[in-house]
Amino acid sequence: MTDLDQQKLAALAAISAATTLNAIEAERVAALGKKGWVSLALKTLGQMAPDERQQVAPAIQAIRAEVSDALTARKDALEAEVLGARLASENLDLTLPAPEAPRGSVHPVSQVMDELAEIFADLGFSVATGPEIEDDWHNFTALNMAETHPARAMHDTFYFPDRDEAGRQMLLRTHTSPVQIRAMVEQGAPLRIIAPGRVYRSDSDATHTPMFHQIEGLVIDRGIHLGHLKWTLETFLKAFFERDDIVLRLRPSYFPFTEPSVEVDVGFEVINGRRVLGGDGNAPGHGWMELLGSGMVNRRVIAMAGLDPDEWQGFAWGLGVDRLAMLKYGMDDLRAFFDGDVRWLGHYGFAPLDVPTLSAGVGAKETGTRA
Ligand code: DAH
Repeated sequence: MTDLDQQKLAALAAISAATTLNAIEAERVAALGKKGWVSLALKTLGQMAPDERQQVAPAIQAIRAEVSDALTARKDALEAEVLGARLASENLDLTLPAPEAPRGSVHPVSQVMDELAEIFADLGFSVATGPEIEDDWHNFTALNMAETHPARAMHDTFYFPDRDEAGRQMLLRTHTSPVQIRAMVEQGAPLRIIAPGRVYRSDSDATHTPMFHQIEGLVIDRGIHLGHLKWTLETFLKAFFERDDIVLRLRPSYFPFTEPSVEVDVGFEVINGRRVLGGDGNAPGHGWMELLGSGMVNRRVIAMAGLDPDEWQGFAWGLGVDRLAMLKYGMDDLRAFFDGDVRWLGHYGFAPLDVPTLSAGVGAKETGTRA
């Protein structure tokens, strides 16, 4: 047996013993690399006489082919092993049993936001959003609250200590009203939007949390008047509370961004010691509950958002989403909304597949659908 045959046997043994791709590569370099023993053997052919070369060359070539095939085969096998191991480890056990009872539920705030979006989508509104970290111009100035305006003091604002690169005073938005400005600036007129989202005020007790949810509404068009406002809110509240006898009372009020401004009260009756919305608030045993702020958009606000107030009018409103949820689903402590207590969520949460739709009713069904 020649030296080359012995080297070949050693190499084939090493190749079949290799357990990593790196080890195979090392064997390839040792045999077929520039200075590998097969390559060096091939180089000796150049110095041989033609006869000799004809005799020796086929043997060396055969060795090269054999080593090369062994390398490829081992490499393929190793790669298949690696893939097999990965597939085995990523295996999904579909025989796992489903939990006995459904787990997880939709938070009442999410549920109510979905209900609101559904109702207003049907009325032709789209959903607009804005940042929770807002600048002072959008949150106050453009809403007709100049720096010295007393209404600013009522907002218990969380300010950021430093101004941003553009010199703007940043804050956590105190209401969703800045989205009115952003929508008008970005989309122009006409416009029909709702803007649900988180807002922040430095305030905390049984009915106030530092973070809470509002939904803003804005309609901008030609020839808009208070009648449109009243019809829209009445239609929305009837759909939301699923009662046809919702009665509204508009009371004059003041907001810097609306003129005139109205506070909207809803008639309620007392059933089993609980206030239930519906009916004429003036009837015996009935009353009025203040529900939301609203008004015709102040022409100064329309102008500051870049529209011509002689051409475009509109109305707007803002209300607390958490409060709506409490009224509709009967919770009495706002703080529990944000405690993350799974028992509370289990009790007040909604089944994930119970998506509110107008055709099936936007409210959760009485039985069987609570998570
Ligand atoms: N932004 C007001 C607040 O948070 C609520 C509000 C009142 C919004 C009247 C409006 C409006 O759009 O027209 O207290």
